[in-house]
Amino acid sequence: MKIQSLRGMPDLFPEDLERWHLLESKLVEIFNSFNTKEIRTPVLESTELFGRSVGDSSDIVNKELYSFLDRNDDSISLRPEGSASVIRAVIQKKQEHEKHKLWYQGPMFRYERPQKGRFRQFHQVGVEYLGFEEGISEYELISMVLQINQLLGIGEYTIKINHLGDSEAKVNFCNALVSFLSPHIQDLHEKDQSRLNFNPLKILDSKEHSTQELLKDAPKFQDYISKDSKIFLNNLVKSYESKCDIQIDHSLVRGLDYYTGIVFEVVSKDLGAQDAFLGGGRYDNLSGQLGGKDMHAIGFAIGLERIIELLKVSNQSLPQKTAFIITGEQIEKKTYKIADDLRRSNNKVTLDTFLSAGSLKSQLRRANKNNCNFAIIIGDNELQSGKIIWKDLGEDGEQELLSVEELLNKYTNL
Ligand code: HAM
Repeated sequence: MKIQSLRGMPDLFPEDLERWHLLESKLVEIFNSFNTKEIRTPVLESTELFGRSVGDSSDIVNKELYSFLDRNDDSISLRPEGSASVIRAVIQKKQEHEKHKLWYQGPMFRYERPQKGRFRQFHQVGVEYLGFEEGISEYELISMVLQINQLLGIGEYTIKINHLGDSEAKVNFCNALVSFLSPHIQDLHEKDQSRLNFNPLKILDSKEHSTQELLKDAPKFQDYISKDSKIFLNNLVKSYESKCDIQIDHSLVRGLDYYTGIVFEVVSKDLGAQDAFLGGGRYDNLSGQLGGKDMHAIGFAIGLERIIELLKVSNQSLPQKTAFIITGEQIEKKTYKIADDLRRSNNKVTLDTFLSAGSLKSQLRRANKNNCNFAIIIGDNELQSGKIIWKDLGEDGEQELLSVEELLNKYTNL
């Protein structure tokens, strides 16, 4: 029997990764322009880290963590997200008092039910701003989100945003919600009944009709947060209203326990049921919860499998690619010198050398399949006459004969 990959853990082939590399390089461009630096943390962490950050009551830790005992009988887990590890790393380096603007990328693991846009191994690119209190950093991160969407050509999206107040407001609201819902527990959908004890806030974004009916008369989050928090949220939304679709959503609580303050998600109608391609918020208490000194923190993470679905970057934005086609026998060595010179003259263009001679037709077919923009064709005749064929593989299919020098010149200036 053939061995298959695990469910929800897809392979990525070169043809997929072309777009991934483009996406990653555009994101790095933006991070550089914000002076945000990369950090890399391990994929495996102690299970306790996620219990104390993402939260023992969250679905992510409760039901979705890939945890196991290592050879030393220590409980370790594959990371389900990146923020907890970043905070752990900064605490471990005793740098909580400094300011950090960090980004990271890599695979994350959650044992979820696989479906379109939802995987068990998926990839995130995340940003964490540490040491900045509520204020300008919220504005800077929303601006960054807008720039990311603009650079990637994502026009249709909505930013859903909410303010969860400080941790006291969150606890008071939770208590009020539980007191209100407890006498009506039978009217809650079965799934939400168990959340009442474990994770009452999650009931707010329940998709179940019976639960939503009950919530109509329940206490509202906005009545528990301070006037300053409400003003901050309203001002933030007002500043971006003319630039994008940004909406306050009081039911937005996010699936991770560590948030206080501003939380947000970016959703797109083009994604189907799993419509959030970015999520984040403020989490000022996490450093303290993990045994570190108090440290302000805010960040977000992008789901790469989802955002890649929305990329409107045309093939023209992919690096130019030229097929190097040899049609004669026994001329590989001579022609290879030309290929070598071309690469040295311009390494921004991909030179796709077909390392064996074949019929021109079959090689041109392959060039098309590999999305080449141009073809350089060399056979015995071309070598003898010193003129090489340069063919535009675009719609007009123009073709010209060039000397080696002319070819090098053209290639350098592509
Ligand atoms: P999150 O909302 O759990 O937040 O995940 C961020 C993004 O990762 C989601 O919006 C989604 O696009 C993607 N994602 C999550 N689960 C899956 C999955 N099973 N399959 C495919 N994509 C998925 C966090 O992880 C926080 N650490 C974000 C953050 C950073 N908050 C503050 N700083």
